[in-house]
Amino acid sequence: KNIAIIMGGYSSEYKISLISGNVVYQFLDKTKYSGFRIHIFKEKWVFVDDNETEVPIDKNDFSVTVNGTKITFDAVFNAIHGTPGEDGLMQAYFELLQIPQTSCDYYQAALTFNKRDLLSVLKPYGIKTATSYYLNKGDSIDTKEIAAKVGMPCFVKPNKSGSSFGISKVKTEAELPIAIEVAYKEDNEIIIESFLDGTEVSVGVINYQGKITVLPITEIVSENDFFDYEAKYLGKSQEITPARISDEMTEKVGVIAKRAYEVLKMKGFSRSEFIIVDGEPHMLEMNTIPGLTTESLIPQQAKAAGISLEDLFTNAIELALT
Ligand code: DAL
Ligand code: MG
Repeated sequence: KNIAIIMGGYSSEYKISLISGNVVYQFLDKTKYSGFRIHIFKEKWVFVDDNETEVPIDKNDFSVTVNGTKITFDAVFNAIHGTPGEDGLMQAYFELLQIPQTSCDYYQAALTFNKRDLLSVLKPYGIKTATSYYLNKGDSIDTKEIAAKVGMPCFVKPNKSGSSFGISKVKTEAELPIAIEVAYKEDNEIIIESFLDGTEVSVGVINYQGKITVLPITEIVSENDFFDYEAKYLGKSQEITPARISDEMTEKVGVIAKRAYEVLKMKGFSRSEFIIVDGEPHMLEMNTIPGLTTESLIPQQAKAAGISLEDLFTNAIELALT
């Protein structure tokens, strides 16, 4: 079967996506699938062969013609973090073309990629969150009001982005305007959240062989102020799987992450982030195209569960095809 592995994307996360996509390509079970690396950039959608030669994709049917032979795809492995791979745009496109793909559907992608909307949908299910304040570009900024609502320190985040781009930890009200400006570089919506002082954990939930499965949980200990880009990708953090939390807490946070997956009718991968404060997990976000680099959390968690990368990717493709 021909599998298109889409990578790149239009956001600051494109470099991480290229690494994720290449890992998928490398660990694809070659006895079952032929993998095709497809770069999706604003300027070009291209198939990239092993000699790095680029051939344009026909967007009408997502095909590519190589040496006069038209190639179509049985399924798409989506490895694009951020827009347009994680926010529903590619999902909707493939749904229109009726090409199966490994990620969740377009609605779930759009919803989960929007932190504000995700958390407000999950709140009535009893899922706890930080206290938050929202801004849209153009809104007047009342730093007093923000500080009164969320307290200090707080986190200023782009509402729709990933890999910690544009996020600042703010310690005083005076630092808010700069942090807001930085976040607006990534998105035209901002979410400002109270600082949760607790244990940060990352919970992978996937459909594994037809069963919604919670992977071993990872505890994150950042050497930096928070789990920022450097901590995530440049080794400035300890990622401990399984997390050093009690069996009861492992169960509790796993049940919450699984519940979120179920109520949202998710498919494929998900990795939700929580901070546990006084025995209560507070949800920060859910990633539906989580990093798949060999250093990323889902691969670490899969390994801890005894699932090889090859099996993990085969599972995702087989689910997409059923
Ligand atoms: N947004 C990054 C890739 C992650 O969630 O792993
Ligand atoms: Mg994220």
